[in-house]
Amino acid sequence: MAFDLDQAVAKVEERLPNTDETTAWPVLIMLCGLPATGKSYLARRLVEQMPFVIVETDFVRKTLFPTPAYSAQESGLVHRVCHALMEKLLRRGARVVFDATNLAELHREKVYRLARSEAAKLVIVQTVAPEAVVRERLEKRKVARDSDDISDATWAIYKRMASDQQPVGHPHLIIDTSGDLGEAVNKILRVAQK
Ligand SMILES: Nc1ncnc2c1ncn2[C@@H]1O[C@H](COP(=O)(O)OP(=O)(O)OP(=O)(O)O)[C@@H](O)[C@H]1O
Ligand SMILES: [Mg+2]
Repeated sequence: MAFDLDQAVAKVEERLPNTDETTAWPVLIMLCGLPATGKSYLARRLVEQMPFVIVETDFVRKTLFPTPAYSAQESGLVHRVCHALMEKLLRRGARVVFDATNLAELHREKVYRLARSEAAKLVIVQTVAPEAVVRERLEKRKVARDSDDISDATWAIYKRMASDQQPVGHPHLIIDTSGDLGEAVNKILRVAQK
């Protein structure tokens, strides 16, 4: 059966909070960073302060593909749905956090273009953490994961992705999530509202 993009977008959208929290000034915060560098944790901290809609690739994947294959085709569909959903939300004036590894500049370019075409304020945030911290977080994920942590990434996946990571081609904030996040959250919100 052919993939129905509108239906997939609607299925994800109806499960997300804050989709009606719109403003005259749409904002798109694009997170990027290796597995377990704290993207999803940071996204949740941002939502405590402002009603962002979190468009998380892991959530979109598991909503559409309950038993994910992580194939190239599946990932392509997940990204298409994320982009179409973000376009719909930004057009309506929502504030969006895009929570994905976004390691390739080719993928990020689509997001830069989307922010431009929807006249949304784009804030790019790269999360980093020392390898020892990442390793510890991934070990913990195996035995006692946080209830809202839905990622399947492992240390082997981290190591593989680390060699694929490309430099971010636009001005961005770099947040080390092994420290206190309070100041980082305030900084991101200040930049988002400038
Ligand atoms: N600043 C932090 N303080 C305390 N714990 C954190 C922090 N950042 C992340 N963690 C913990 O580390 C684990 C991995 O973080 P998180 O899920 O946010 O990473 P991620 O970048 O979203 O990874 P993935 O790409 O695999 O989704 C989680 O269990 C989370 O609770
Ligand atoms: Mg995550």
